[in-house]
Amino acid sequence: MLALASLSGAADADWARAGAPYADLALLGGIALDADSRGAARELVARGREEFLPDDPLAFVDAQLAALDDAPIRAGMNVRSATVAPIRETASICADHDAVLEINAHCRQDELCAVGCGETLLRDTERLAAFVAAAVDAGATVSVKVRAEVDGVALPATARALTDAGADVIHVDAMDSEPLIADVAAASDAFVLANNGVRDRATAWEYLAYGADGVSVGRPSDDPAVLERVARAVADWERRGRDAGRDGEVPG
Ligand SMILES: Cc1cc2nc3c(=O)[nH]c(=O)nc-3n(C[C@H](O)[C@H](O)[C@H](O)COP(=O)(O)O)c2cc1C
Repeated sequence: MLALASLSGAADADWARAGAPYADLALLGGIALDADSRGAARELVARGREEFLPDDPLAFVDAQLAALDDAPIRAGMNVRSATVAPIRETASICADHDAVLEINAHCRQDELCAVGCGETLLRDTERLAAFVAAAVDAGATVSVKVRAEVDGVALPATARALTDAGADVIHVDAMDSEPLIADVAAASDAFVLANNGVRDRATAWEYLAYGADGVSVGRPSDDPAVLERVARAVADWERRGRDAGRDGEVPG
């Protein structure tokens, strides 16, 4: 399974449609949902970063997902929030569109960490698990985007706790720690989506050999040559897996 990974300010419905010939899932956003995360996003824009900052983030999510209701790719929405209520509301919108709600426990910008979202959530597994449980309760298929190499965070244990809370997908930015994917896959029954540096057959197969159920492409997700190369590699891997009796579908 090949996914397109969120790129704030760029990963919208048009981006997803452009990647649809190659990928199975497009994770739009990230989008800041509550007052604190929106404040942080405004600060990011002020220092030159691209962000989605619509007046009404829930209406934006609904409109973006609606634009993909008939698209030949499954959609998801990567969300940043310091509070649980908007996660629940957005999960409900995602459920209406059969889309994946992806909780962002990944972004590391100081502005986002200062208000308690992004990778800071990795240090507060209980709060992150509560976010997951709320989104599951609202009926969505839930992914959590996590990052490797965060001091004091053992991702396999985190993945297990999030799976226990109901997460369907653990989306791991492995950074330079590719073998960590094997530990996460061993610790969790969730679908493991591996990310970072997937560009070709070798980089995709490395993650798949470590036990990832799928891979995602971020920065070159608008480059058809990269997507075609990775899509072919994933399809070849899955063909071998089917021969061996394995499956590679996103749950839910
Ligand atoms: C400009 C930019 C914006 C990003 N925005 C988000 C985001 O909003 N949410 C998120 O989970 N990851 C975000 N990411 C991380 C990517 O989804 C991905 O995890 C990372 O770039 C590593 O994958 P890659 O090597 O395929 O690019 C962003 C990355 C970049 C370069």
